[in-house]
Amino acid sequence: MYTQEMLDSIKNVERTRSERLHATLRRMEADEKDKLLQEYHPDYRTTGFKNILVGPNKGQKAPSELTDLLQAHSRLTGKHIDLEVVDYDVDVLIIGGGGAGSSAAIEADRAGAKVLQVTKLRMGDANTMMAEGGIQGADKENDSPAIHYLDALGGGHFSNRPELLSRLVHDGPLAIKWLSDLGVMFDKKPDGTMITTHGGGTSRKRMHAAADYSGAEIMRVVRDEVQNRGITTIDFAPAIELILDEEGKASGAVLMNFDTGEYSVVRAKTVIIATGGAGRLHYQGFPTSNHYGATADGLILGYRVGAELLYQDAIQYHPTGVAYPSQIFGALVTEKVRSLGAQLINRDGIAFMNPLETRDVAAASIIRECSTNKEGIPALDGGSAVWLDTPMIDDLHGEGTIEKGIPGMLRMYAKFGIDLRKQPILVYPTLHYQNGGLLIHPDGETTNVKNLFVAGEAVGGIHGKNRLMGNSLLDIIVFGRIAGKSAAARAKETTTGKLTLAHVEKFEKSLVDAGIETDKVSPLLLPTYTHGRTPRKS
Ligand code: FUM
Repeated sequence: MYTQEMLDSIKNVERTRSERLHATLRRMEADEKDKLLQEYHPDYRTTGFKNILVGPNKGQKAPSELTDLLQAHSRLTGKHIDLEVVDYDVDVLIIGGGGAGSSAAIEADRAGAKVLQVTKLRMGDANTMMAEGGIQGADKENDSPAIHYLDALGGGHFSNRPELLSRLVHDGPLAIKWLSDLGVMFDKKPDGTMITTHGGGTSRKRMHAAADYSGAEIMRVVRDEVQNRGITTIDFAPAIELILDEEGKASGAVLMNFDTGEYSVVRAKTVIIATGGAGRLHYQGFPTSNHYGATADGLILGYRVGAELLYQDAIQYHPTGVAYPSQIFGALVTEKVRSLGAQLINRDGIAFMNPLETRDVAAASIIRECSTNKEGIPALDGGSAVWLDTPMIDDLHGEGTIEKGIPGMLRMYAKFGIDLRKQPILVYPTLHYQNGGLLIHPDGETTNVKNLFVAGEAVGGIHGKNRLMGNSLLDIIVFGRIAGKSAAARAKETTTGKLTLAHVEKFEKSLVDAGIETDKVSPLLLPTYTHGRTPRKS
């Protein structure tokens, strides 16, 4: 239920709706976007970042919370782990129970490898499950991987690693087919052809969705497939440190039993990190759309054994996080709402931008609209927001469109007495995605640690400094499968030497040499909410 002040403000939205319905909203020019980003996007602020003082990215900046974890103590500092006692001996160890890890597990198993998939919560407790709007794949006649490439390159400000982006878009149609063959129920027309829509920054309709439960549907299917194949999985078993062999090859991990705190040793010929994102670090005080377990663990594990990060300071703030009511503060309002025609409206009832600008531009534009000199609509705790004019959707496409296309959104708001078919909703950017991560070759292996592979949100470089909607569900499938195949193939030709955790001591020494005094340990594993609800300082 809205406050009286909000209800009054809605009158402005309603007043201008009919004249906005069929209006074409202008796209921003390139220099206009650059200026907007520099002035209002959180990545361009000088506060909120710290320089990294140790490791491969020494001298570069990262969000302060991430820097603190990158240069924290290992959970094993001062502890003795007997690496002669091996609890699990496998070809491929996969760390992470989301879409990337599961796709990797399926392909590694298919290639005949002995696979162990471990996850710190339960299989499927991951950002994949939370993804809503869809997955890109250039499989329509008017489209091609080359066009998809150009869209993603422009969205990424031309900073995408070409060899990774090219793999992503080339394998897009294959990924859609793979998922469809496994049983994913994509939205289809009565004749069986896939329904595809636009996302921000796409020049073709290539977003494949399952209503607004796309990630949950994909996770349902890949998790079933892991189970059906009889792949061994362990829940509540976070990896807390990677193990190398004496030649420096990734050769396993130390797991911690979340119930008992006991450690176990996994020896593996190859290791895949698929641990997802970092939203629960709440950079710059932002709320997040991320899963509870999104604490950057894989970045820490990889970095401590010497894997390089790329674009660790490029963060995606999804333009439309829930700004009201408080119970769902920061939750995702899928971009599909804007794909279906809903416009972003300011306190004067004006559509202040084209709703399908790329995410960084859209987020910065909303922040500008709510900044002190312009002021948005008062929302929670002194924060402000803008309206997302959802009733436009049924007005544009006919009654029932919302119910069919975004049933998850409809239900989420209905719980709080808001019918988004009749009333607009209040939104503000929410921390959604880490554009950066561990740097890999196109076969999924990290550029500087042998036999260590990475897939999914823990990878950096595919999307450059700004990802387009639907390219994340795509990358977890494309690079998850690639990592699984590559790791299985490498395992066949690998002989693992004596296991060692010597890097932990070496890393500790580098902290001392850099003069870092910290009481932090990492990986963090679970977020800390000691001060009540995360404030919005932005
Ligand atoms: O808005 C969304 O549905 C999110 C999609 C994505 O991050 O790819």
